[in-house]
Amino acid sequence: MINAQQHVQALLDFIDASPSPWHAVKSVETQLKAFSFVKLDETAAWDLKAGGRYYVIRDDSSIVLFVQGQKSLVETGFKLVGAHTDSPGFRIKPNPITAVDGLFRLGVEVYGGPIIATFADRDLSLAGRVNYKDADNNIVSALIKFDEVLLRLPNLAIHMNRTVNEEGLKLHKQMELPLILSTAIQDALPAEYFAKLLQDKLGCGLDKLLSWDLAVYDTQKGVFWGAEQEFYADSQLDNLASCHAAIQALLDERVLNSESTLVCAFFDHEEIGSGSNRGADGSFLGDVLQRIAVTNGYSPEEYARALAKSFLISADMAHAYQPSFPLAYEPDHKVIVNKGPVIKVNASHRYSTESISQAQFIDWCAQAEVPYQTYSHRSDLACGSTIGPITSAKLGVRSIDVGNPLWAMHSIRESAGVLDHQYMIKVLRQFFIS
Ligand code: CO
Repeated sequence: MINAQQHVQALLDFIDASPSPWHAVKSVETQLKAFSFVKLDETAAWDLKAGGRYYVIRDDSSIVLFVQGQKSLVETGFKLVGAHTDSPGFRIKPNPITAVDGLFRLGVEVYGGPIIATFADRDLSLAGRVNYKDADNNIVSALIKFDEVLLRLPNLAIHMNRTVNEEGLKLHKQMELPLILSTAIQDALPAEYFAKLLQDKLGCGLDKLLSWDLAVYDTQKGVFWGAEQEFYADSQLDNLASCHAAIQALLDERVLNSESTLVCAFFDHEEIGSGSNRGADGSFLGDVLQRIAVTNGYSPEEYARALAKSFLISADMAHAYQPSFPLAYEPDHKVIVNKGPVIKVNASHRYSTESISQAQFIDWCAQAEVPYQTYSHRSDLACGSTIGPITSAKLGVRSIDVGNPLWAMHSIRESAGVLDHQYMIKVLRQFFIS
């Protein structure tokens, strides 16, 4: 029997192997290999069988995986769990090197809504995807990850920023975020200097390098903390923790032999609004579901009936109560770490939860013997959102937004409770087998 601590250790290993959304999809794919999942190509014809296990990757950073059930789709619908692979942070600009005052700095653009101050004084590095020409003159994509600490955003000394503790650390996005990479080397042209770094890592010729997508990541590994080691901290818990919980729930022989068709969809671009070919507001998930139906000979009407029968759990992290900031929270909806998954409710439908999906989820919690909590944002603060409302609206499926309590959402170092990860795995598994 795997205990809560072991589940979280597996999560921390998963995150440490996934410093970018492109790596996160690769990490999911690695886990699927052991369970005989077959990769499907969107440009090829599909041949699907009842009981078959499949996955589709779009543009390297979004993945939909599914297990085709033994029963008719019309009878069971799709059982879907959705989450996202991206996290807020910095992305490297196309012409990245700025040479100034004897230093080479890398220009960055802010991706999504990170707590920017938390990136200062961290041991940062680079990971992502690089495209180049191989020996046969084909364009190939490869993942790239610098393990060593490559970059830093040094703080301003307090002697030059006397009010920092009263006013907080404010960093100008254009002027003050470039990351220090190296001492400037006189005879190297800045652009070539950076290209050479990538080329040395890849082992391809400098002239062969074409383009890249690069994210800044924190090299510090995940840890357990607390008097009883009941908490854990890592980067990207929002939302790799939910991706990991969904995978753990699914990759269980009892679940994999389900009568229903089970689907996990992990999207890139949630943190920037989901509007892309591989985001939740794109066609990816709908395309895959429709192809499952069409390939199996269902009519358009039968596909519509299958969707009408379907249920989506949108899993994304929730705001855990931090007692130092009592006024930031809705006093009657404090959610506490290690007290179970959170059902998120919002009247403006920033979360997709409604009372029927809520009732259903509460029942799955009861069956799985998992506690649950309910969250509502302060009425006078703007509420965040998830892929839940978008996906539910696009597909027309019933949906709920849930997630585990998390401290410091969008910090480069987020924290959560050890027990909650196992609780989430258990209730998602209950959903799959119900
Ligand atoms: Co999130």
